[in-house]
Amino acid sequence: MCGIVGYTGPRQAYPLIIKGLKRLEYRGYDSSGVALLNGTGLKVFKKKGRVTDLEEAVIGKNLEANIGIGHTRWATHGEPSDRNAHPHSSASGKLAIIHNGIIENYAQIKQELVKKGYSFTSDTDTEVLLNFIEDIQKNNSCTLEEALRIALKRVSGAYCILLIDQDDPTTIVAARKGSPLVIGIGKGEHFLASDASPIIEYTKEVVYVNDYELAIVKPDELILKNLGNEKVTPYITKLDMELAAIEKGGYDHFMIKEIFEQPSTIYDCLRGRLDAEAGAIRMSGIEKNIEQLKNANRIMIIACGTSWHAGLVAEYIIEELCRIPVEVEYASEFRYRNPIVNKGDVIIAISQSGETADTLVALEKAKENGAFIFGIVNVVGSSIARISHAGAYTHAGPEIGVASTKAFTGQLAVLFMVALKIAQEKGTISTERFNNLVNELSEIPEKVDAILKNAEEVKKIAEVYKNASDFLFLGRGYNFPVALEGALKLKEISYIHAEGYPAAEMKHGPIALVDDTLPVVFIATKDTYHEKIVSNMQEIKARRGKIISIVTEGDEVSPGLSDHYFSIPPADELIAPILTVIPLQLLSYYVGTAKGIDVDKPRNLAKSVTVE
Ligand code: G6P
Repeated sequence: MCGIVGYTGPRQAYPLIIKGLKRLEYRGYDSSGVALLNGTGLKVFKKKGRVTDLEEAVIGKNLEANIGIGHTRWATHGEPSDRNAHPHSSASGKLAIIHNGIIENYAQIKQELVKKGYSFTSDTDTEVLLNFIEDIQKNNSCTLEEALRIALKRVSGAYCILLIDQDDPTTIVAARKGSPLVIGIGKGEHFLASDASPIIEYTKEVVYVNDYELAIVKPDELILKNLGNEKVTPYITKLDMELAAIEKGGYDHFMIKEIFEQPSTIYDCLRGRLDAEAGAIRMSGIEKNIEQLKNANRIMIIACGTSWHAGLVAEYIIEELCRIPVEVEYASEFRYRNPIVNKGDVIIAISQSGETADTLVALEKAKENGAFIFGIVNVVGSSIARISHAGAYTHAGPEIGVASTKAFTGQLAVLFMVALKIAQEKGTISTERFNNLVNELSEIPEKVDAILKNAEEVKKIAEVYKNASDFLFLGRGYNFPVALEGALKLKEISYIHAEGYPAAEMKHGPIALVDDTLPVVFIATKDTYHEKIVSNMQEIKARRGKIISIVTEGDEVSPGLSDHYFSIPPADELIAPILTVIPLQLLSYYVGTAKGIDVDKPRNLAKSVTVE
């Protein structure tokens, strides 16, 4: 949460920072700001609202500077407002800071500073941290870097911070713990950001800063140190990402671009791993750790949000194919209870961003208890990818729309391959079934493409129901988690209240909501549960609820019970969730856009949740 950008070098810093902030707006968008340093001193501009509001606010100002830092905020301490926006400046007016994270013990530090006569202009923990640093700098007559190091030993919480100092007008001092920081290495210039998207245009050589590291960044020098003041050698990585991947490419929104990318992102995910001709799956992360995985006493899946829904689908698939007990946990619950984690346990962590704070801390805890961590992550080089013992990337490319779409189908594809591979090694699947499922999986990109060709049909359904105040999503078996995901997508993007339920559970409560105004979305594809879900449709119809169903092509029963239906190509029931979720993604997109909502940046949400 919160996006940060910094630059030091020969270019004009302001336009570069603004462009970078726009790319990072998915991380938060309730206010933004920049701090610039030039011959006339430190200048800070900030504004409530989107980055475009900031741009308007600075029209006519002198923005000349070759060094600067910028921030786009997702509020934690203090309401979204001009004065709580970052950057914050210190009491002396010489230092400026931007911060992504939370300083948990800020209240105590604030009290100490107030006693010393400090006053504050914002409600933020960040301004407290900055004045604490400046106070140490003054009292110890030390450099900013030393003061920062001393301060960080006192603070608890998470941070990625960038600092600039009027008295050292070419240097950015940065530090990270828990919130991401990437530094791009240019020729006589350096770029700093929360992820690589603001950097990719200028250089492909980057350094991912680790927790408890400080960076002293000048145009032609990058020094990394640990909190013990020892130098650390920067490990330079080459970015494997193209600029086009983070642009809208002619689509109205990133979300719809990402929905339509799914045939190719799923293909990229399977490519090099799934060999339908040879009837094989090749995944080095599984192969190298096969003993650990196939002999697991138990698999625990830890994730949040949409990734948690992918975990629920995986629970059904892994138990079915591998006969290993699986538990799926919300990371935020797991980390604060006293879970039983033993040496023979395998943890599968699922995360698009690889930076979700709750997931990250939950994994650290499980790792301490001796669990083996297998990460399924989209962002290459992210924190979760790095703390996992092994893993598999989803290869969906940058996902920018706040509501996750292509990352979800990528997660399902990887989880499916993981389950198949373990089952094969464990001998819990016949060769025939394995080959059939491998074949089915290889056909998925084509089937997704076929569904997307009929997107207009979903748009028409969305038009009919866009003014509903509630929605119910029902599914059974492998499609129950898809019902949860359909409801979550709609809530996120259209602000319509929606609930996902196992279809049979509907009788134990939600059925009381049904009347002739309630749209009920059934995922009613042809599978083991088909007859049962048809009965559930009858029950809704008898109460005059409006039925929208996702059915298998050729189904002669479900369409007759539905007010609207959408057909998808047939697929094995284990794989079906990768297909059934697509019309639900489209439904939320078309309802959201019909209501005029900025679907890429819905209110109150952020894509990468780096606070608890
Ligand atoms: C946020 C996003 C969701 C995402 C969840 C988990 O809530 O808005 O789309 O599913 O975080 O994020 P992760 O990056 O760990 O998958």
